[in-house]
Amino acid sequence: MDLIQSPWFSYKKNHLYCGNIPLQDIINNTGTPVYIYNKQFFQNRYNDFKEAFKKLDNSIFFSVKSNFNISVIKTFLDLGCGADVNSQGEMFRALQAGVKPRNLILSGVGKTKDEIKMGLEQDILLLKAESEEEILVINDIAGKLNKIARVGIRVNPNVDAKTHPYISTGLMENKFGLNIDEAVQLFKMGNKLKNIKFTAIDMHIGSQIISIDPFSEAIDRLSEVYFRLKESGIKLEHFDIGGGIGVSYKGEKIFSLKDLASVIIPKLKKLDCKVFFEPGRFLTANGGILVSQVLFTKMNYDKNFIITDAAMNDLLRPSIYNAYHHIQPVNLFPGREDINADIVGPVCESGDFFAKDRVISKMNREEYLAILSCGSYGMVMSSNYNGRRRPPEVMVDNNNFNIIRSRETYEHLIWDEKLNN
Ligand SMILES: Cc1ncc(COP(=O)(O)O)c(C=O)c1O
Repeated sequence: MDLIQSPWFSYKKNHLYCGNIPLQDIINNTGTPVYIYNKQFFQNRYNDFKEAFKKLDNSIFFSVKSNFNISVIKTFLDLGCGADVNSQGEMFRALQAGVKPRNLILSGVGKTKDEIKMGLEQDILLLKAESEEEILVINDIAGKLNKIARVGIRVNPNVDAKTHPYISTGLMENKFGLNIDEAVQLFKMGNKLKNIKFTAIDMHIGSQIISIDPFSEAIDRLSEVYFRLKESGIKLEHFDIGGGIGVSYKGEKIFSLKDLASVIIPKLKKLDCKVFFEPGRFLTANGGILVSQVLFTKMNYDKNFIITDAAMNDLLRPSIYNAYHHIQPVNLFPGREDINADIVGPVCESGDFFAKDRVISKMNREEYLAILSCGSYGMVMSSNYNGRRRPPEVMVDNNNFNIIRSRETYEHLIWDEKLNN
């Protein structure tokens, strides 16, 4: 089997480490399943991002939906990053982590009145609206609060991000944003409203985008809107290009930030405003793993199964996107043969799998597996399905590790329920 190693997760004498910490030390402390993050990875990725775009007037907002643990948010905050949130709950998390409201932007195709109100009361930097009705509601709530709302409109540029259909968001059949002409009309209409001040134009065309072309094309289309608005007297301060940069899940090569920057910076420099980025996956995906223990192995007909103590409730991506996550043993036993196996969880669903027909070293009961690239869209999508407790999260920081979320207790599972008699 292939082993993927990086400066953040690597084998030393056949044992997998996160930075300087043997995974076995963490497992002995927390048990399994457990999410493990490498803080230095997060810091490196953010610094790389900043460096790549330093010639551009820009701000980076960590997309909290990719990993909403408050320690993870704080890691980026400490480096000068803002936060992009998609709900009141994510806004609460970002504020709890210490993000200043003026470094917060609120996205979302369907915001509730409470969410809008919270954003306005907190005086966050920007609310990104996606429909005429939403603009009217924001204007109404801002009026009642006696505030002027700073608002952007999300444009759907109808560009194919060539990613999984579930995470493609910039095509005309998608629910997100507004087409170019409608967006221009709405900017003009909304500009007359008393409690709206348009400050931004926005897009986010999808996630796990592995080519530069869709970004380039979408920026061209959004720029066209920006200049049309400028001509009609609406001068925007911010041009928000969202997130979406793809990462390597199989060890494959993805375009570099330098390549992306060399294509988009000249386009963005033509605009006379500040650029916003909202990376999520790029900053976190390969900085996290999910470690699980092998409960049982078996053959059913002619198929090998490795049954782990992690399940789809802990990591949903393989079940819903058929997403590939590389899986490798925590401890290597040289000379062990490889087999083809399905690696599955204990939940009663055939969709509860992490890998199908995967080449993997033969595993025995009670040995451990590391599921890689779980720093994004991992823990945030976890649930209590099958009455399972959510796993803990651990952050490795150089020579130390901290439990940044403990394993749920059984009391957590029923704390807000009542017996009905
Ligand atoms: C509005 C918005 N911004 C940013 C992101 C982050 O995307 P990614 O994790 O692909 O960078 C998302 C993800 O869906 C999003 O919806």
